[in-house]
Amino acid sequence: MTFDCEGNCVRLPGQAVIPKAAKVRNYPLVERFGWAWIWMGDPSLADPSSIPNFFWLDHPEWKPVGGTIHCESNYFLLIDNLLDLSHETFLHASTIGNAAVADAASETEAGDATVRVRRRMPNCPPPPLFKKARNFSGNIDRSQVIDFTPPCYAVVDARAVPAGTNDTDNGIEWRVINALVPEYEGTTHYFWAVSRHFAIDNRELDEIMHKAVVHTFSEDIGMTEAQQKRMARPSADPKHVTIKADAAPIAARKIVSRLLHGEAAGVQTASP
Ligand SMILES: [Fe+2]
Repeated sequence: MTFDCEGNCVRLPGQAVIPKAAKVRNYPLVERFGWAWIWMGDPSLADPSSIPNFFWLDHPEWKPVGGTIHCESNYFLLIDNLLDLSHETFLHASTIGNAAVADAASETEAGDATVRVRRRMPNCPPPPLFKKARNFSGNIDRSQVIDFTPPCYAVVDARAVPAGTNDTDNGIEWRVINALVPEYEGTTHYFWAVSRHFAIDNRELDEIMHKAVVHTFSEDIGMTEAQQKRMARPSADPKHVTIKADAAPIAARKIVSRLLHGEAAGVQTASP
C-alpha cells in the first residue's frame, strides 16, 4: 500500500477501489542539516524555528561523519555522560582520553534554558586520535565547551593547537553533535555526528574519525547500559551522593524536569 504525505492510501495493488478508512497518521517533518526532524506532538504546535542550529552538518567548510546507535539505556544517562567528559580519561584511553581531561577543572554555567561546561587542558600530551588526526609532535593546548540544549541535545566544541601557539592551521577543531532521542523509558535512539573544520577533503581521515568515534561511543554505551541494568535491580541503593562533576548533569535535568512539568500542566513547549 502506498500513502501520500497526508496519510491517505493512494495505491492498493490488485484493488481499484481504496477504502476510505485506509489511512495512517501523518506527522509534520522538516529536513534540515541533512537530518529529518519529526514532530510527534500536537501538529499545531510544530515550530521548525525550535530546531537547533546544527549547521556544521552541511556547511561547505565542515566535514561530518556520523551515524545512529540504538541504546538500551535511558536517554538522560547519555546526556549525564556527555556533560561530564572527565570520563574520557577512564573510558576512552585508546582515542580521546588521557589523564589531562579528568585532572583539569571544569566550569559550569547553568542558565534557565541551557547549560554550558568549559574545560581547558593547557600543555598536555595529545591523546591517540588527536595524534592520528594531526600528527602532533609535542604537547597541545586543548579545550572543550559542551552545550546542552533541551530536551535532548549536547554539542561538544573540541579544539587543540600545538602547545604555546595559536597555530590553528595545524590544529584540531571539531563539533560532536549528539541528539539523544528517547524511545522508551530505558531505550534511546542516538543520532550523532562529528564534523571537523580541517583537512575536510581527506577521505582517509573520514574513515579514521568514523571508526574512532564508533569505538568511543560503544564504550560510552557499554557504561550507560550497565548503569541502566544496575539501577533497575531491586537491590539498587537509591541513595545519591553528588560531586562537583555532577553540576552540569543536575542543571540539565532540572531544565528538562521543569519543561515536563509545564507540559503536564498544559503549557506545551515546541521542541522537536
Ligand atoms: Fe564518552
